[in-house]
Amino acid sequence: MPLVCLEDFKAYARQQLSKSYWDYIEGEADEGITRNDNIAAFKRIRLRPRYLRDVSNVDTRTTIQGQEISAPICISPSAYHSIAWSDGERSTARAAQEVNICYITSTYTSCTLEDIVAAAPGGLRWFQLSVQTDWELNKRLVQKAEALGFKALVITVDAPVIGNRRQNMRNQLNMEAKIMLKDLRSPEERNSTITASPSTSFCWDDLSVFQTMTRLPIILKGILTKEDAELAVKHNVQGIYVSNHGGRQLDGVPASIDALTEVVAAVKGKIEVYMDGGVRTGSDVLKALALGARCIFLGRPILWALTCKGEHGVKEVLNILKAELHTSMALSGCRSVAEISSDLIQFYRV
Ligand code: FNR
Repeated sequence: MPLVCLEDFKAYARQQLSKSYWDYIEGEADEGITRNDNIAAFKRIRLRPRYLRDVSNVDTRTTIQGQEISAPICISPSAYHSIAWSDGERSTARAAQEVNICYITSTYTSCTLEDIVAAAPGGLRWFQLSVQTDWELNKRLVQKAEALGFKALVITVDAPVIGNRRQNMRNQLNMEAKIMLKDLRSPEERNSTITASPSTSFCWDDLSVFQTMTRLPIILKGILTKEDAELAVKHNVQGIYVSNHGGRQLDGVPASIDALTEVVAAVKGKIEVYMDGGVRTGSDVLKALALGARCIFLGRPILWALTCKGEHGVKEVLNILKAELHTSMALSGCRSVAEISSDLIQFYRV
């Protein structure tokens, strides 16, 4: 049977993966309230379509940080793609390049950044940094990403410590011991095991250090409140990425789509706002854009796609979502991304 939607890829991937890897990817913090709400919150929102508009030409293209992408559907940073597909991040990068969307590469990759760039030299990529305690290492990573042609630095702010993931504890899974984090090592350390050491002390004042270290636009990933959104604007970052890490960090925070409205209102159009968490259909993408997101990102669906069919799976998932968005735009009277506005939204709380 063909896989026709993202849920089909999820069901098939579940059959392919070992229990501990499946649990790692699904991985929710604590009781999974936020992970589940990311999905449920989209289902609570209702749309107000407009008809009798000529929708014979619907254009899903847009730009992020000035770069054109074929649709506002891109790839969230996620660790260790080689657990899903042996070629790991190289396959993800090739698929993203072919579909002409942006792939945010995680700090915790199973291939080196050089390998990823060599696999898809023409692709649009941003680099996600999990700030490390070692500032020399932060500098080395950021400057390497910039030299390799990554176009933005995405700093994750919601993980000063790792959330409480019960299933990983039950399965006694230690991903770092399994996968060589090659980019976190100096060349002479390449073959030794290393433990990542995320910084617990990184704070607003440290942002200026990154601003002197790189000319790349800086985007903060994991912002959920108007207070932090205002601080981000004040600290001259170029973008905010609303996210709760797929419900893997602090359990009980709002669904990303619910937090988006507050952040968009606080930013007042000064910088671009993106979101991820629970996006599974084209109408979810439409809803996120109508609520002010410039673009959405996909986390788990990309890992399901890799597990099912590697690079081809990722291409299929991206193209399915693009086609669903195209249909949703036509059915709601939006001929371009610019025509998607908050008038489309009717809040419907059950
Ligand atoms: C993640 N996420 C993540 N985020 C990040 O900033 N750096 C990382 O290395 C990772 N690693 C990671 C691994 C796995 C297995 C998952 C599922 C997620 C979070 C990710 O970027 C994103 O915020 C969520 O996955 C989005 O939610 P959905 O699309 O999975 O619902």
